Amino acid sequence: MASLGFTRQINSSVAEFPATRPRRRRSCGFRRDRVGFRVFAQAAAAEPDLSVTVNGLTMPNPFVIGSGPPGTNYTVMKRAFDEGWGAVIAKTAGANGSAKGQIIGWQNIELISDRPLEIMLKEFKQLKEEYPDRILIASIMEEYNKLGGGLIDRVEQTGIDAIEVNFSCPHGMPERKMGAAVGQDCALLEEVCGWINAKATVPVWAKMTPNITDITQPARVSLQNGCEGIAAINTIMSVMGINLDTLRPEPCVEGYSTPGGYSAKAVHPIALAKVMSIAKMMKQEFGDKEYSLSAIGGVEKGSDAAEFILLGANTVQVCTGVMMHGYGLVKKLCSELQEFMKKHNFSCIEDFRGSSLEYFTTHMDLVRRQQEAIRERKAVKKGLQSDKDWTGDGFVKESESMVSN
Ligand SMILES: Cc1cc2nc3c(=O)[nH]c(=O)nc-3n(C[C@H](O)[C@H](O)[C@H](O)COP(=O)(O)O)c2cc1C
Repeated sequence: MASLGFTRQINSSVAEFPATRPRRRRSCGFRRDRVGFRVFAQAAAAEPDLSVTVNGLTMPNPFVIGSGPPGTNYTVMKRAFDEGWGAVIAKTAGANGSAKGQIIGWQNIELISDRPLEIMLKEFKQLKEEYPDRILIASIMEEYNKLGGGLIDRVEQTGIDAIEVNFSCPHGMPERKMGAAVGQDCALLEEVCGWINAKATVPVWAKMTPNITDITQPARVSLQNGCEGIAAINTIMSVMGINLDTLRPEPCVEGYSTPGGYSAKAVHPIALAKVMSIAKMMKQEFGDKEYSLSAIGGVEKGSDAAEFILLGANTVQVCTGVMMHGYGLVKKLCSELQEFMKKHNFSCIEDFRGSSLEYFTTHMDLVRRQQEAIRERKAVKKGLQSDKDWTGDGFVKESESMVSN
């Protein structure tokens, strides 16, 4: 592992399932009901179907190992398949590869894999031979002018199912125009996506950095230039703190530090916002075309995944969650997601994917809606007519009457 250091941040807040009431229902692509096998069909219908198909790749569930330490080598990726993960994205490869309490945030200053590329390719090949039906995705990052070169051919020859291009590593050698340095520069990104997609014969996902003002811009450029999917988000640029005794920043390596990438529960709300923006853009501008969205950031519970899917994600990646809870986490994620689906009577992922997206609007529109609601209440003599009507005794009731939901 090319690890330089991790820092964890501890807290104790707990998020609950959102109370959503999606209105529309879509047909499930993988209904297992079969005429003539009534008993079997009834028994199968009891458990919601978690299988998904994205860019032609079918997975038993939407849970994907996100690129990072949990996909470092053959042994751990094999373990992920054995535990039942829907797909595995390997640790990012490049051509020159050589607590206690509740953790809410995690910082890393890890670079891409320093394992020799030859060994990684051999391991991909072995995994695909042993698990031909499971989805293995290679993650690659290279200097921008080398990405169209031999790396894609060599990776594809192993039999992997898709490629995720890491346009997002926050500490991925920006001076060599790698990682986020490409993802933050739409002109460069356009060029690089063009090269990659002229070569690649498997689906390509572009992994986005959140360290940019408008994440929809690189997502749009990637899709316009041949990528089949978007993955978001990579880690958020962060400084964990300053040691007030030594006056040195943390994490400290030989007295010095560098901003790192923040992940885990603390980044989940930020990831939700970024995924929401991308999903809206994809829906408005790319419609029903077969593009996919893979959401990442702070997933530890089935409810975290349900939120991403309600925003339009096809798959949900987990990286730090696996480092904290182990590969068996996928079983808990699947059963919690199924519980949520049962509660709402959803029989498959497509029944609720994207259902919450339509409830996002502008701040201006919220003000307009609230004013309209207050006007309506006034019309039926509910709520306060004006500020002079507030009383001390009925204050709580009067406040309630002004609340819009
Ligand atoms: C220690 C560590 C190493 C990571 N290495 C990679 C990497 O090699 N390639 C990549 O695309 N993302 C990498 N990531 C980012 C994760 O895949 C993921 O996008 C991010 O951590 C947010 O998800 P999480 O909260 O589930 O960890 C790494 C994250 C961590 C914490």
